[in-house]
Amino acid sequence: MEAKIRAFRADDERTLYDICLRTGASGEDATGMYRDPDLLGAIYVGPYLRLAPTLAFVGVDDEGVAGYVLGAADTRPFEKACEHEWWPMLRSSYPRSLFPPESPDGKLVRMIHEPPAADVDVVERYPAHLHIDLLPRLQGRGCGRRLLETLFDALRAAGGKGVHLGVGLANLRAIGFYERMGFTVVRRHTGSLVMARTL
Ligand SMILES: CC(C)(COP(=O)(O)OP(=O)(O)OC[C@H]1O[C@@H](n2cnc3c(N)ncnc32)[C@H](O)[C@@H]1OP(=O)(O)O)[C@@H](O)C(=O)NCCC(=O)NCCS
Repeated sequence: MEAKIRAFRADDERTLYDICLRTGASGEDATGMYRDPDLLGAIYVGPYLRLAPTLAFVGVDDEGVAGYVLGAADTRPFEKACEHEWWPMLRSSYPRSLFPPESPDGKLVRMIHEPPAADVDVVERYPAHLHIDLLPRLQGRGCGRRLLETLFDALRAAGGKGVHLGVGLANLRAIGFYERMGFTVVRRHTGSLVMARTL
């Protein structure tokens, strides 16, 4: 059966956190890498579902939800909204002292307390950003393309002109996919790239 794409529903949230963990090691399963299995989702999924739920779409096969794309239409206001409505709650649940600072969990907790801001000129030209993750059973079947195109349509309908994303240098498969989907590298950071395209 071809996977279906549909809008996110509130009862998908747990599954999306799980997919985030199961694709969180440069596209491979990160289960067991973190002492807290919810930390990755709390950073890369939760704020989008809370603050931009109409830009969240899922891929569903006969076993259930197995992939998602999440977007923010305007990154700078989204970062500000996170500062008011998302990070404060997480900062009290995850104080800096909870994990050793150089441990995998500790590095994620630091992101909660010091969330990185997108580059000024990237946001200027490509204001939206996105995250996409599919479980292995949905990969390589055209679902990633369909999820991205669904998000692009929603962003265009909201007047969006460009979109960017971050990808780890080790995730060669995703980099190849994004290039195929029209993204080019616009910034190089230590260990990661920022890729972007117009809409
Ligand atoms: C990366 C990912 C989103 C791609 O989604 P997908 O469903 O596997 O990709 P699709 O099958 O929709 O491929 C879409 C197009 O990209 C091409 N493509 C996919 N991977 C490619 C690669 N590594 N190099 C070149 N082209 C690639 C496909 O051939 C296809 O081309 P076409 O539609 O023009 O024929 C998915 O594999 C995934 O979720 N991986 C694990 C999590 C992850 O790494 N997420 C990204 C974190 S930054």
